[in-house]
Amino acid sequence: MVDTRPTPATSASPGRGPAAGSAEPWPDRSVIPPVWSRITNISVDRGEGSWLITPEGDRYLDYSSGIGVTNTGHAHPRVAAAVAAQAMKLLHGQQNIVYHEPGLRLHERLRHVLPGDGWTAFLSNSGAEAIEAAVKLARIVTGRPVIIGFRGGYHGRTAQTMALTTAKDVYRGHFEPLPGSIYHTAYPYCYRAPGASHEPAACTCDWEDQLDLTFHQLIYPEHVAAIIVEPILGEGGYIVPPPGFLPRLREITRQNGILLIADEVQTGYGRTGRFFAVEHWGVEPDILAMAKGIASGLPLSGILAKRELIDKWPPGTHGGTYGGNVVSCAAANATLDVIEDEHLLENAAARGSQFLAGLRGLAARYPAIGDVRGLGLMLALEFVRPGVGDGRVPDPNLTRRVLAEALERKLIILSAGTYANVARIIPPLVTTAAEVDLALSILDESLVAAGA
Ligand SMILES: Cc1ncc(COP(=O)(O)O)c(C=O)c1O
Repeated sequence: MVDTRPTPATSASPGRGPAAGSAEPWPDRSVIPPVWSRITNISVDRGEGSWLITPEGDRYLDYSSGIGVTNTGHAHPRVAAAVAAQAMKLLHGQQNIVYHEPGLRLHERLRHVLPGDGWTAFLSNSGAEAIEAAVKLARIVTGRPVIIGFRGGYHGRTAQTMALTTAKDVYRGHFEPLPGSIYHTAYPYCYRAPGASHEPAACTCDWEDQLDLTFHQLIYPEHVAAIIVEPILGEGGYIVPPPGFLPRLREITRQNGILLIADEVQTGYGRTGRFFAVEHWGVEPDILAMAKGIASGLPLSGILAKRELIDKWPPGTHGGTYGGNVVSCAAANATLDVIEDEHLLENAAARGSQFLAGLRGLAARYPAIGDVRGLGLMLALEFVRPGVGDGRVPDPNLTRRVLAEALERKLIILSAGTYANVARIIPPLVTTAAEVDLALSILDESLVAAGA
């Protein structure tokens, strides 16, 4: 039958307008929905290493790294060249249909990014998708339903990952009902430990008792497929756990036949000065999730697991149209080359120590800085109201002012933590000693201007 309905006048040119790069003014910002809460009002034209550059030529020191993504710096020439070359050959070579060289090479290389043998990668697009994959694999391998996460953890925005996330109310509070068979237990937050010491080395956190209570009050360990943990809490406030935490968690999970999933979406790819953060504690997870820094900004994520686990995942039970996209794989291969050739793990460790020492110097002068913490280039200042309560009352207003003053001085940093009272600093791993010094002096000025 012939369709006689009139064709809408606009259908021949859907959304036609000036192309990107046109001399016409940029469209009004209101075209973007407000659900994208925004840290800055900056419009950006290009990026170079640690810097973002506006159309007017203003340069911002980007110590957000696009939320921990641009580990090799903005538009690293080797990554950009690999992307451009691949884009001219093939943009999409779907995983269920064909093999492509960048994908095969990347899978092969990812077998060796963690210590030990037998690792295999499964690739997807975003951090949340990597966590979804980890959860599905854990359930299918163990035949058990339950996943335990940690209070303060962040794992993504999909329904399953929202259910695992407890970093802040805004991430999940409006979206009940959430998927079930998820329980949460206490993460060791040394600075807020109820006992006497707030030092990680002498931490009094009772996380192990809390996990034991979880097993006795909420769920039998034999029904738990996996415990998912961020080796350092990210969105939850850049919380570095005490030294014994991950090794002991590994023991407990092994004793109970529970898989350990390390969510290294934010901590991985050199961020903490090791390729993956679990290496600081010599802990081998069963499944490791990675994303963010993996392809220097192109959408790519994945999990690593031992071959014997991955082989238990029946064909077709997981996948996705874009997983392991060929251009993203080309970017990921170039990213691995840059990390190795430019010694970025070593630089992350050295610049991290320099930065941490500088932040500790600031904390000695500003009592509103309650805690300084971090590992490698994953650094944080926790702001409190000195003299109020027990001296650790969170101060989100001061945090907001410090971030705003830093932005005024063209330094971009982010907030974190359940009460948004943590300033988190995520420089690219290519950052220089001079840039770190510049950031420290801007922070010093910003603390004064914010009335810290
Ligand atoms: C630890 C962690 N897991 C998972 C995610 C989700 O990643 P994505 O935003 O790529 O879905 C994030 C994002 O910040 C994260 O920090």
